[in-house]
Amino acid sequence: MIIAIDGPAASGKGTIARRLAQHYGYRHLDSGLLYRGVGFTVLQAGTLGERATAIAAARSYDPARFPEEELKSDEVAQAASIVAAIPEVRSALIALQHEFARSKPGVVIDGRDIGTVIAPDAEVKIFVTATPQERVRRRILELRGRGGTVDEAAVLADIEARDDRDRNRAVAPLRQAEDAVLLDTTHLDISSAVRAAIDIVEAVRAGRRPA
Ligand code: DC
Repeated sequence: MIIAIDGPAASGKGTIARRLAQHYGYRHLDSGLLYRGVGFTVLQAGTLGERATAIAAARSYDPARFPEEELKSDEVAQAASIVAAIPEVRSALIALQHEFARSKPGVVIDGRDIGTVIAPDAEVKIFVTATPQERVRRRILELRGRGGTVDEAAVLADIEARDDRDRNRAVAPLRQAEDAVLLDTTHLDISSAVRAAIDIVEAVRAGRRPA
């Protein structure tokens, strides 16, 4: 059983995916962490913009090398979005995701291209969205929660730049799969959004059209 969750930055897809996995006893893969790991590597090497280093980092990808906390910054997110547009980086990370997708009894994978490229046969596909203004508001709250000062204009610029790059790249752009169910979380808190996602999974499994 594969549940594919795609959507733009700060749409709520990560939290929804994690909670769905807990609910169903499935494994969860946040595929953004793979691209963040590659982005982090090129940032550390001072080679963002050099395709060869990014491709080499993706080909020798080792999840154990990256403590999750180090991957969470907006700087790493931007780098992730940049390296994610390189076709060889994406293809180097496919086998790892396919292997994970075979885990039993099931998986929830979230990202940008899970329902369209990585797992086009996923039993359930959900495309999570929220307005850019709401996503910026959430991201600011999250950053404040982690302490430190927050540059609101920089957060908006980060989200707009990533939206634009992730949607318009030539390979595996962010888009809703034709058979994905749209879940707009703009007016939903976390627990309502998770409830709505579970309702979608149940409806799809029962062969009903989600409301
Ligand atoms: O989901 P996230 O914010 O952690 O993702 C960081 C970047 O990685 C995102 O801006 C684009 C890229 N990404 C991707 O291209 N494909 C995925 N499946 C997941 C992330």
